[in-house]
Amino acid sequence: MSQSVDIDDLREWLENVEAAETAQFLLGAIAHREGTSVSDLASWYGRSSDEITDWLDELERRPLPVSVAAREGVDFEALADASGLNRQTIVDWFGSLTTSDIDEAADVIRRYSQQNPGPLLGGTESRVFYLDYEVIADHGWSLDDENLFEKAGEADLDLEAYGRFLVKPGESILEAAEKRGRSWPYACRGGACSNCAVIVTQGDVAMPGQTVLTENQVTQFNARLACVGVPATSEVHLVYNVQHLDQFEDLQLPSPLTDAEPLQ
Ligand code: FES
Repeated sequence: MSQSVDIDDLREWLENVEAAETAQFLLGAIAHREGTSVSDLASWYGRSSDEITDWLDELERRPLPVSVAAREGVDFEALADASGLNRQTIVDWFGSLTTSDIDEAADVIRRYSQQNPGPLLGGTESRVFYLDYEVIADHGWSLDDENLFEKAGEADLDLEAYGRFLVKPGESILEAAEKRGRSWPYACRGGACSNCAVIVTQGDVAMPGQTVLTENQVTQFNARLACVGVPATSEVHLVYNVQHLDQFEDLQLPSPLTDAEPLQ
């Protein structure tokens, strides 16, 4: 068992879980820590020794809040569908609860297991680095360039084309950009078009409630909507002004920034 999981922490988690399977998992870990053998645990719980060994290995492999969340009924796949986040981002986010107080972390897990939105979908404070897609096209760079943002940082670009700003929890990326004086494309401001689309090249951005982007656009292209998008990681790199790429063209609405009759 991981020495980083303190036995007192295991006991405190035990007081904060509801599912019988989670309680058994934690009780087994505590008992093993106190000297009970794998074979005795297997016999107590009517499970195979391999299963008990897997439990103990799991405590080495992944942060305890992830193991608890999975057993308490948090559905990482459904959360990925609902948020527009990558599944791994969600798993990593639950893993980051290791640094929270256990009762607070358990409360967050409880909310998600009961399908109540929690802080993951409300956004986290994040440093967002942005780059205008037109600059990529003009310089002959590619969205797939691994050092795209390093190149941009060395290219003496103006602030409209490249820069960074802080996004606070609860703020959408578009709101934060506008507060810092940026003028990014948008139309509906409600997740119903692709005018504000961005492509995330590092980190991840949740989009609670968005329905317009396809799964392919979200998972293959890492597309997100800036008007409803909230950072889920402490740093995000994104390319904005991508709405004219083929995969977004059909989803555009008239824009208040460029069309004679703006949407209200
Ligand atoms: S402006 Fe329409 S989805 Fe963001």
